Amino acid sequence: MSEILSPRAMEGDDFMVSLRPRWLKEYVGQSKVKKRLEIAIEAARMRNEVIDHVLLAGPPGLGKTTLAHVIANEMGATIHTTSGPVIERQGDLAAIITSLEYGDILFIDEIHRLSRSVEEILYSAMEDFRIDIMIGKGPGARSIRVDVQPFTLIGATTRSGLISSPLRNRFGMIFELEFYTVEELMQIVMRSARVLGIEITEEGANFIASRARGTPRIANRLVKRTRDVATVRKIDRITVEVARETMELFEIDDHGLDAMDRKILRTMIELYGGGPVGLKALAASLGVEPDTISEVYEPYLLQSGFITRTHRGRVVTRKALEHLGYKTNFGPLWGEE
Ligand SMILES: Nc1ncnc2c1ncn2[C@@H]1O[C@H](COP(=O)(O)OP(=O)(O)OP(=O)(O)O)[C@@H](O)[C@H]1O
Ligand SMILES: [Mg+2]
Repeated sequence: MSEILSPRAMEGDDFMVSLRPRWLKEYVGQSKVKKRLEIAIEAARMRNEVIDHVLLAGPPGLGKTTLAHVIANEMGATIHTTSGPVIERQGDLAAIITSLEYGDILFIDEIHRLSRSVEEILYSAMEDFRIDIMIGKGPGARSIRVDVQPFTLIGATTRSGLISSPLRNRFGMIFELEFYTVEELMQIVMRSARVLGIEITEEGANFIASRARGTPRIANRLVKRTRDVATVRKIDRITVEVARETMELFEIDDHGLDAMDRKILRTMIELYGGGPVGLKALAASLGVEPDTISEVYEPYLLQSGFITRTHRGRVVTRKALEHLGYKTNFGPLWGEE
């Protein structure tokens, strides 16, 4: 794929300067989430308590990691970062949790990938600030109880459906981040241009924002690539013309779709009559992992109305047919009746 549009993080995203906002007031969009967090943070500060555990869910690149760091900053708390797949044994997680100090934040990225036995350590740690560790094996095994300092767990996940209910139930706040509007992305694009030290016109910002698939990470990447084009063309600010040349260079169309998105839609249309088609079959036809489709491409194709999901599989919409230049002067499509 043209990696520029992948919402997944890649090396170089934070190359040289960080575009991450550090405070709630700089964090654009997600206004409901921000309001609720503001209250929770303020209340915890007034009562001199730690804030309740927070679960942040949503597609890649929408600002979960950023928000975790913002919460830590706002609380003046130390944040310790780890992730689901790197914690292999109960002891690994127990070691991390017992080393936390009062009010620290433990950020576990990809928390849905914790194994069930590791996850169990979290239950009592989150609820009662203690952990029970089994020492030894067989008949001599015994369990010891260790108290831990009150801390805040912030979990992040791209797959909230995969979080077990005992774990989910122990979070005091669960926030599902949403795709950003073009206006919000414009603010992000303009701020990032400023941080990167390049001027940008309002139309230029709008042009980039409309092609960023509702995703700040992609918006920032597009700003950087557009800045490259501007530098090479010896233009001192980002205009629509520079932005347009950049999109052509990376084959990004007016809806922010790239070559792979279009290939997915074409495959659905030409090989599967527009669907319904199952994820596995589609992935096999395209020669990619099912997860890549469901996590990287599909969320935006669904959100922007190019495909819909039915109980029998994915189907393309009239909008997709029109966008790709297929005829649509026939009866209702699957699922349209
Ligand atoms: N609300 C926001 N305002 C401004 N910039 C943002 C916002 N959210 C995210 N960003 C920018 O987008 C980038 C990606 O965000 P972040 O790394 O927090 O996403 P994520 O949800 O953790 O993604 P992943 O699921 O891949 O871990 C950040 O580096 C930051 O520059
Ligand atoms: Mg992240």
